[in-house]
Amino acid sequence: MRTDYCGALNASFIDQEVTLCGWVDRRRDHGGVIFLDLRDRDGIVQVVFDPDSTNFALADKVRSEYVLKVTGRVRARSEATVNPKMATGEVEVYGTGLEILNTAETPPFQLDSHVSVGEDVRLKYRYVDLRRTEMQHNLRFRSKVTTAIRNYLDLAGFLDIETPILTRATPEGARDYLVPSRTHDGKFFALPQSPQLFKQLLMVSGFDRYYQVAKCFRDEDLRADRQPEFTQIDIETSFMDEAGIMGIAEGMIKELFSTLMDVDLGDFPHMTWQEAMDRYGSDKPDLRIPLELVEIKDLLKDIEFKVFAGPANDPKCRVTALKVTGGAEISRKQIDDYTKFVGIYGAKGLAWIKVNEIEKGVEGLQSPIIKFLGDEVTLKVMERVGAQNGDIVFFGADTTKVVSEALGALRCKVGEDLNLYTCQWAPLWVVDFPMFEETDGGVAALHHPFTAPSCSPEDLVANPASALSRAYDMVLNGTELGGGSVRIHDQSMQQAVFKILGISAEEQREKFGFLLDALKYGAPPHGGLAFGLDRLIMLMTGSSSIRDVIAFPKTQSAACVMTDAPGAVDTKQLRELHIKLREKEKKDEAK
Ligand code: AMO
Ligand code: AMP
Repeated sequence: MRTDYCGALNASFIDQEVTLCGWVDRRRDHGGVIFLDLRDRDGIVQVVFDPDSTNFALADKVRSEYVLKVTGRVRARSEATVNPKMATGEVEVYGTGLEILNTAETPPFQLDSHVSVGEDVRLKYRYVDLRRTEMQHNLRFRSKVTTAIRNYLDLAGFLDIETPILTRATPEGARDYLVPSRTHDGKFFALPQSPQLFKQLLMVSGFDRYYQVAKCFRDEDLRADRQPEFTQIDIETSFMDEAGIMGIAEGMIKELFSTLMDVDLGDFPHMTWQEAMDRYGSDKPDLRIPLELVEIKDLLKDIEFKVFAGPANDPKCRVTALKVTGGAEISRKQIDDYTKFVGIYGAKGLAWIKVNEIEKGVEGLQSPIIKFLGDEVTLKVMERVGAQNGDIVFFGADTTKVVSEALGALRCKVGEDLNLYTCQWAPLWVVDFPMFEETDGGVAALHHPFTAPSCSPEDLVANPASALSRAYDMVLNGTELGGGSVRIHDQSMQQAVFKILGISAEEQREKFGFLLDALKYGAPPHGGLAFGLDRLIMLMTGSSSIRDVIAFPKTQSAACVMTDAPGAVDTKQLRELHIKLREKEKKDEAK
């Protein structure tokens, strides 16, 4: 139907006749002349119909979001009417032909007022929301990224192989989405939390290098960077150690940034998990922020102040200072807000010292806690953190988990509030994770139970709490972009790990028998990783939520307000699936 895209027009088209198809972004009537901003996926161009035009009356009927086919001649705008804010602002189309391909009711919201309508309305009318330039850009960019990833991996010899969606549970730490089986009474498929076990089996089958742009499903609490249904760039290789795998993955991300954004990410530093927790209180530190946690436990063991002395003498606790350069400006009200903020992570308070004139000793400091710490200890703490005039020092004293999470999050919040960023992009690898973490009822795998330990099976069994794994995470600007590991390829090692996780021999057989069997039939050493594609695109496009880079995302409560999913199912269908709803049962009884 069309000869050109609206957004493609520029001075080189002057005097050419073009036919355009698109939506009416705006219609203005200026003293009898009608201006239509016509929009398609490439951009917007101004079309003019004057009263001499045979189609003037038709153009007058046009409203926002009508779908049009317009023919006209491209002409230069007069100097006074050139619009430098528009990509096509040097030209306009003098309309001659006009066909209304479809009308539109007044849209539920003006495209440029999306901010004020609330996300639920945007998601309910997502097909309208997606017409916005920002969303068009995000999804086009996403397509470019997946194409570039496919090219990179294809060149490196990776095969794109699909794995099933109807499958058994794959433990990645979330709840499963279940699908009832009609043909197997009382049994359920689980949607994959990741293709983890299938990609390992593909290595056992000898494919050597696999990748997939894979949909994953996790029923977990949602946040700005989490969706119940999301996409991974999933990768697995055989006969390659962690250095090789990380090299391929790092090369891929670097190439994306350089070809699509002209950004050189440089070589990614490596940091052990322990160092990341000690210095940043997080296993995904945002290295754009030049603030660090400093341990002061040893200085506080003998003081009277129980709030600090208690944790200082408890091996499960840490007592930590966070010095914020230039933070003495922070108001009392702001400190109160930060105290509430760390409360979210379980911190019972947020002690602080402002440094006004350090050369005057404690006289030059301002704080409600110096009287509890004593002058000598206070000054030692100031020396330890390297306090300078104009700084504020925050303190956390509690279990290691609470202090790390609270001060780690505070570090990022203060960094953002005071705009302390030292660079735009800060990638790194976090390595040497512990194999296991303590949970309420026992231990859980920190990555997943198929991750190889970096010690022998004997050492692992003798001391699981201190065992490290061969896992690695790629972190960018404080977001975990991807993670993976070298896997266990030995059946007895896999069984040892299951045992430590409290999975009995019967349960192992029942849930993972196919994996344990496969490990018996010539499993090669293998490993891989998976990137969160949505998170990657979110960071690359500077979006604040992954919902802005997914065409049809779910809401925070894991629903689709457009299609009204999940939806009710009629009794017949439930009966076929051998399912009886408990709520329904009660309602039926009440009748
Ligand atoms: P993991 O669970 O770390 O590893 O997931 C890999 C990456 O997927 C992204 N991600 C998510 N993105 C959006 N919404 C979610 N709910 C969500 N959950 C995870 C993150 C994360 O880094 N099978 C292993 C990988 C491997 O070992 O090869 C796995 O799934 O960016
Ligand atoms: P309190 O004696 O409880 O009034 O506390 C004195 C100061 O220490 C206040 O500024 C509290 O915010 C702070 N505080 C209390 N508990 C903790 C804690 N666990 N970690 C850090 N600061 C704390």
